[in-house]
Amino acid sequence: MFAARPLTRESKPQLYAELRESVRALLQGERDFIANAANVSALLFDALPDLNWAGFYFMKDGGLVLGPFQGKPACVRIALGRGVCGTAARDRRTIVVPDVQAFPGHIACDSASASEVVVPMVHAGRVLGVLDLDSPLKGRFDEDDARGLEAVVAAFLAATELP
Ligand code: SME
Repeated sequence: MFAARPLTRESKPQLYAELRESVRALLQGERDFIANAANVSALLFDALPDLNWAGFYFMKDGGLVLGPFQGKPACVRIALGRGVCGTAARDRRTIVVPDVQAFPGHIACDSASASEVVVPMVHAGRVLGVLDLDSPLKGRFDEDDARGLEAVVAAFLAATELP
């Protein structure tokens, strides 16, 4: 249903609207946090072109710990404030990094990654973790991706029993 296809600026909001609906349909009737995170990472990796990694880190004991993902094996623990993921979690804001080489403290898990977007998962004032997408292309993500992925995260949180 969501075979990867070329993304133009015009088509992105439409694609993300469809993706959000697909997340709702996929998670309907299932509220398990890990299972739903796993299926969301698989859906995003399959639906969005030019990704080499898509997945979650969860907050545990004050730091981020690797959750379900698609892509190459990744760093397991990231301290709050470290890298793109730790910065997004600490500051509670989505971060779009057009060129990871230019982001001070970027953590290189997969040397193929050239750009990245990280969306924090915040519920009832608590940071539960982050959603992280990496691309081998520089400048792969923009504000449309950021807003679209925030909506995907919101659909995931709404459908899932939270820890
Ligand atoms: N690049 C991330 C680390 C996670 S991997 O990309 C999967 C960062 O700087 O936080």
